Amino acid sequence: MHVIEKKAEFAEYLAHCRASNKTVGFVPTMGALHEGHLSLVKRSVEECDVTVVSVFVNPTQFNDKNDLLNYPRCVEKDCKLLESVGCNAVFTPSVEEMYPEPDTRVFSFGTLDKVMEGEHRPGHFNGVAQVVSKLFDIVKPDKAYFGLKDFQQVAIIKAMVKQLGLKVQIVPCPIVREADGLAKSSRNMLLEPEYRAVAPTIHKTLYEATTMKNDLRPDQLCEWITKTIDATGLLKTEYVQIVNFETLMPIDSFGNEKAIACIAVWAGKVRLIDNIEF
Ligand code: PAF
Repeated sequence: MHVIEKKAEFAEYLAHCRASNKTVGFVPTMGALHEGHLSLVKRSVEECDVTVVSVFVNPTQFNDKNDLLNYPRCVEKDCKLLESVGCNAVFTPSVEEMYPEPDTRVFSFGTLDKVMEGEHRPGHFNGVAQVVSKLFDIVKPDKAYFGLKDFQQVAIIKAMVKQLGLKVQIVPCPIVREADGLAKSSRNMLLEPEYRAVAPTIHKTLYEATTMKNDLRPDQLCEWITKTIDATGLLKTEYVQIVNFETLMPIDSFGNEKAIACIAVWAGKVRLIDNIEF
C-alpha cells in the first residue's frame, strides 16, 4: 500500500491507474478509523479496481477550536487497518499541502445547509465542500463512499457534485453500530466511561420512536425523544428533527413521504450525531 503526502505524487499515481483503465474508488476520511470507515473501504474494494483513502483532519470544517485540537489522530494505526482491508493507496497531506492559500470559496446549498448540523455548526458544510471538492479534483474518482451517519453531509456532497458538474458517483453506505447500538464514530473514543455507558440510549430512543409514529405527530415525537434522552441526566439533546429525506425540511405529519429523524447530543464535552429512517 502506498502512503503519499504530496498532491502531485498522488495525482500521478491516480493518472497511472486510469491509464490502465482501472476504475477508482475513493473514501475521504479524517482518520481515527473504525469499522464504519472500513466498511466503506471494503465496499470500494469490492466495486472498484483501485481503492484510495485520504486521511486529513480538515481545519476549515471545524467551527469549534477545541473539537479540532482534540480530534483523535493515529495515522500509523489507520494505515495498518487500511492495508488489512485491501486499500491501495493512502493520501496523508499536511494542512499546507491542502491549503497553500486560504480557501475563500463560499458554497451555497439553499436550505440543505441551513438546518440541523448547518444551523448548529456555522461554516461546517462550507468547509466540508471545500475539502471534498479539492480531494475530488486530485483523485477524480469514479465512485466515492460516504457513511450515512452523516446523513446531511451526504445530501450536501450530492448537491455539490451536481453544482460542479462532476462525474463521480456518490455511494451512501449504512451506519455501522456497536453491539449496544451506539453508532460508530471516531469521537466515541473520547467518551468518559460514564458517558459511554449511557450513549446507547440515543439509538434505543430513536428506534422506539419509529414504533410510535402512528400515535404521535413528528413534533410530539421529537419532544418525547428529547425528554427520554435528557432523562439520563448525562446526555443533553442539542436538536432532534424529523425531516423529509430529500429536502431536509421538517415534516408536520407522517404521510407517504420518506422521513428521517436526525439528532445531535452532547455526552459531556463530546458531541454525537445519529439518525434513523421512519
Ligand atoms: O466525514 C468526514 O469524515 C469528513 O467530513 C470528510 C468527508 C472526510 C471531509 O473532511
